Amino acid sequence: MTDDELIGILESLSLRQLHHLARGRVHRHFRLGKHRLIDVLLALPSESRAILEADVLRSQTQLAARSALLAPSSSPSSIRAPKKRPPHKPHAKHPLSSTPPPVTVPQLLEGLGVPLTQTFHPDPWQQEAVTQLATTDVIVSVPTGSGKTFVAIEATKAALKQERTVIYTSPLKALSNTKYMEFSQLFGAENVGILTGDRRDNAQAPLLIMTTEILRNLLYDAASGEVDVRLNTLGLVILDESQYIADPERGVVWEETIIFCPTQARLLLLSASIGNPQDLAAWLTSIRPVPCHLIHHQNRSVPLRGGYLHPSGMFSPLFRTRDITKGQGYTFHPETKRLASQYEEETVGHRNRR
Ligand SMILES: Nc1ncnc2c1ncn2[C@@H]1O[C@H](COP(=O)(O)OP(=O)(O)OP(=O)(O)O)[C@@H](O)[C@H]1O
Ligand SMILES: [Mg+2]
Repeated sequence: MTDDELIGILESLSLRQLHHLARGRVHRHFRLGKHRLIDVLLALPSESRAILEADVLRSQTQLAARSALLAPSSSPSSIRAPKKRPPHKPHAKHPLSSTPPPVTVPQLLEGLGVPLTQTFHPDPWQQEAVTQLATTDVIVSVPTGSGKTFVAIEATKAALKQERTVIYTSPLKALSNTKYMEFSQLFGAENVGILTGDRRDNAQAPLLIMTTEILRNLLYDAASGEVDVRLNTLGLVILDESQYIADPERGVVWEETIIFCPTQARLLLLSASIGNPQDLAAWLTSIRPVPCHLIHHQNRSVPLRGGYLHPSGMFSPLFRTRDITKGQGYTFHPETKRLASQYEEETVGHRNRR
């Protein structure tokens, strides 16, 4: 079959039939439009092309046989009257007719910006976490942007008030530096120190920011008899981003830190993304002298919104609905689909033509 013959046949097929043909032959074919799909099918290597041609011919034969069967026997196909379109039903039920119209760009951006000033009221779960820390270890597993830092700050205030030392750890030097600045402003520079691989400032301060690896090493030294004076008065250890415990390489650092954490200190684990916080709480309860209280919810105080920015500067909502909500299926916004396939046409198509 020549290229022109194959193109002729492929062009006569519907997009749906083309996708059917492309299944198993073209990677991510569902993202391609009709012309692009035909180009890609034509560019298949010769052995795949031969099988494609055979499939195309077979489906053509089947189609022809089916139309012959359906044709009224009294009228030969050559003079068959054009098939009458069914009368137009203005309210015919379309599969998407029950779904709401896709969100518009102004709707997507509505409410973004600096919020109006209002009185701060802690959420009940924040209050609960702070209260619980007086008697138990606590795991806070709530979505990102919910206000876990408030719990860390209030618990730190309570511990410092009782003249206990506080250690706050994060998995990243950059995050430790940010927290060092934030907490220095809040508690006064003289009360805050930092210990990371790169930095060591005010190391005898009552509130110390460090990477989790540094704390683990301090605890190792203490276990071998070199007790750091700061550990004697330790009242609270905050492990931020504690989902790292599941990290295949670094997770052991969090495990050892928890295991070696002095018994008199309370542990506060913060995370937005622990998959099994109940299991972690049960493990802590089994190895620590006090029970572990779990605070877990999935209500987002800050809705997640998704947008698509085309290199031309065009912007459209990523999905049909405004909020990216957990547990619901996502349907791409029609405008985003159009822009994305246009972009692909311009870039991939251009690359292939070279
Ligand atoms: N109860 C509250 N009411 C209103 N705003 C709050 C409340 N608690 C915290 N916030 C604000 O929410 C924002 C996000 O808080 P924070 O940085 O503590 O979130 P987070 O849970 O630590 O998120 P991440 O998982 O990204 O670390 C901050 O600007 C904070 O001031
Ligand atoms: Mg945080």
